[in-house]
Amino acid sequence: MIYLDSAATTLQKPPQVARACAWAVSSLSTPGRGSHPAAARAARTAYRCRALVGELFGCPAERVIFTFNATHGLNIAIKSLVPPGGRAVISGYEHNAVTRPLHGLGARIAVAEAPLFDRSAMLRSFERLVVPGTDAVICTHVSNVFGFALPVEEIAALCRWRGVPFIVDASQSAGVLPLSLEELGATFIAMPGHKGLYGPQGTGLLLCGREDAVPLLEGGTGSASAQPMMPDFLPDRLEAGTHNMTGVAGLLEGLRFVQRTGLRRIREHEAKLTAAAAARLRRVPGAQVFSGPLGSQTGVLSFRLAGLECEAVGEALAQRGIAVRAGLHCAPLAHRTAGTFETGTVRVSFSAFNHLREVEALTAAVAGLASRRG
Ligand code: ALA
Repeated sequence: MIYLDSAATTLQKPPQVARACAWAVSSLSTPGRGSHPAAARAARTAYRCRALVGELFGCPAERVIFTFNATHGLNIAIKSLVPPGGRAVISGYEHNAVTRPLHGLGARIAVAEAPLFDRSAMLRSFERLVVPGTDAVICTHVSNVFGFALPVEEIAALCRWRGVPFIVDASQSAGVLPLSLEELGATFIAMPGHKGLYGPQGTGLLLCGREDAVPLLEGGTGSASAQPMMPDFLPDRLEAGTHNMTGVAGLLEGLRFVQRTGLRRIREHEAKLTAAAAARLRRVPGAQVFSGPLGSQTGVLSFRLAGLECEAVGEALAQRGIAVRAGLHCAPLAHRTAGTFETGTVRVSFSAFNHLREVEALTAAVAGLASRRG
């Protein structure tokens, strides 16, 4: 299979990830739940993972929270900051992981809109909407549909200036673009472990800038056990119940791979494949390709073919052994903003493990589908 769906989950992982998961299943219990060697090994593994995340993302280790996925972290972040009926400003490229919790809270949502790949227009839109009294600004670093890299550094500066808490959804940027909790002065950054960090599914990270974040789950933490309420210190406050140590051990190896390889190398590799795919797809008759200028797009690319439904294209590619994702990508807002809501798009997304020959196979298959169109 040619796997071009890394924006959903990276499937090709460094071999150390699976080895660490297998080792963890039979070697690790849970941190803080005993002084025996299995618990001590688990505590060491968890600490190493937190420390490496802290090093990569400018965050003290104890403020690195293990979550199940980015959605979990975003829910903690949003529900810690936005009260029922509160006001949130979001970009027009947010995922349902942001919009659904806000709708669930009955929040007043102001949407910062801008044409695809127009970073300046996006910033101006935020400048108009971020006013004092806003409970939170929430912005995806990179659109999961279009790979559009939003100007989060500038939006973070705006939030600091206007005294509004800032949440970054780093689902598509972690492991690709530089990102630092400390430098942004963000309140929260949420990210999955299973995409650009090459960990297993069931892992996610929340970088937590606030001691008083509100737990989604309450329960045992292996600490302050006599206390009726959740501990008031991190990370325990936000980590009730037994940890996914299999996942954490795998994620640690994924993070080590990212550190060894280097963000820049990964980013440039994916950008090269994206540019090659965009150039070749544009030659296919009837193809509309959504690509942006250098620096405004990561390794995620959407397109559609006139006269063919995107889902049908996705299925036909799957039959030819090419994995992509078609439709609305759990991000209807992004499609509305870009004007693709009625049709959706076909999305290809790359990882460090893809090759140019896979791009060539994709574009040949798409050209074949276009030529057979009725
Ligand atoms: N949010 C993930 C995607 O874009 C699952 O496919």
